[in-house]
Amino acid sequence: MRTEITEISEDIFVEAHAFLEQMAAEIGEPEGLDERLNEIRQELAETGTYTHTARELEFGAKVAWRNSNRCIGRLFWKSLDVFDYRHLTEPDEMFNALRNYLKHATNGGKIRSSICLFAPKHPGTRREVKILNNKLIRYAGYDTEDGIVGDPEEVPFTQTCLDLGWRGELTAFDLLPVVIQVPDRTPELFDLEPDDALEVEIEHPELPWFREMGLRWYAVPVITNMTLEIGGIEYTAAPFNGWFMGTEIGSRNLGDADRYNMLPEIARRMDLDTRSKSNLWKDRAMVELNTAVLHSYRKAGVVIVDHHTASRQFMSFVEQEKQAGRNVTSQWSWIVPPMSGSAMDVFHND
Ligand code: ARG
Repeated sequence: MRTEITEISEDIFVEAHAFLEQMAAEIGEPEGLDERLNEIRQELAETGTYTHTARELEFGAKVAWRNSNRCIGRLFWKSLDVFDYRHLTEPDEMFNALRNYLKHATNGGKIRSSICLFAPKHPGTRREVKILNNKLIRYAGYDTEDGIVGDPEEVPFTQTCLDLGWRGELTAFDLLPVVIQVPDRTPELFDLEPDDALEVEIEHPELPWFREMGLRWYAVPVITNMTLEIGGIEYTAAPFNGWFMGTEIGSRNLGDADRYNMLPEIARRMDLDTRSKSNLWKDRAMVELNTAVLHSYRKAGVVIVDHHTASRQFMSFVEQEKQAGRNVTSQWSWIVPPMSGSAMDVFHND
């Protein structure tokens, strides 16, 4: 006899079934697949949700990385460290957990790809925990009378923080606070300690003036605004990190015209004529900025990967997946690095 469950639970059960079947096929199901599915059905009938085992959580998180169509770094999907903080309900406890997770992930610069999971959303209700930041570590952006100070991409989130009573120093590199929201409560602000967020000052191996620009970036990219879905269950607070590919900082964060927009100043300091486009001043400035980023991270002992190496690693991942009988899907425009695209194999594959 099948246990009667609601329509919403039925949809979740279908997802759970598919997930458990995949897990059983890939790494085995110690309890027996049918037994586990019965258990899940029972829990759905009683509570409207079900609880992943630690093993399911770990497998689900790893496969979610393996399936991330925008990620060039997926070769290392099996090495993901999973932190289970589902039992925490208080924002201050969650913040402490985030600091622990960050310490593990940062590892003094020898970055470990990790994910930190808080309580999932209860299906059918709107009750969910949320981290309102886009990234766990980011710099504020202030819209001032003299233009934007800091990271233009973070102006809206910075405004949210200011509205909640936060005050920044108004430098170009102010660490934003962490904002945590749990059901029925207003969002709460927490400041990271300077020690929590390892940073790298940017210098160039040959151009001494580079340092004078006072550029810096943080070591660990932690995405906080994506939901992890495993077998029909949504983890709305699931920060995860890898390490940077140099171009994310050198071409995009510091280079994009609508971000820190450093290429014109770098070109001027290189004595390039910025009036003409066809002398490729932007391209030349971008190469030097990327050179500086890779050099500075290496010098500081912080893991970073250049785009050529990352592209090669992605091709190995595709090969590895083929060997395992799986097909890789991806978004070409996200996988191909934002500079020198055609010099890499990923460019020549759709
Ligand atoms: N590009 C984003 C940033 O600069 C980070 C995205 C994730 N990057 C990574 N290497 N895992 O903040």
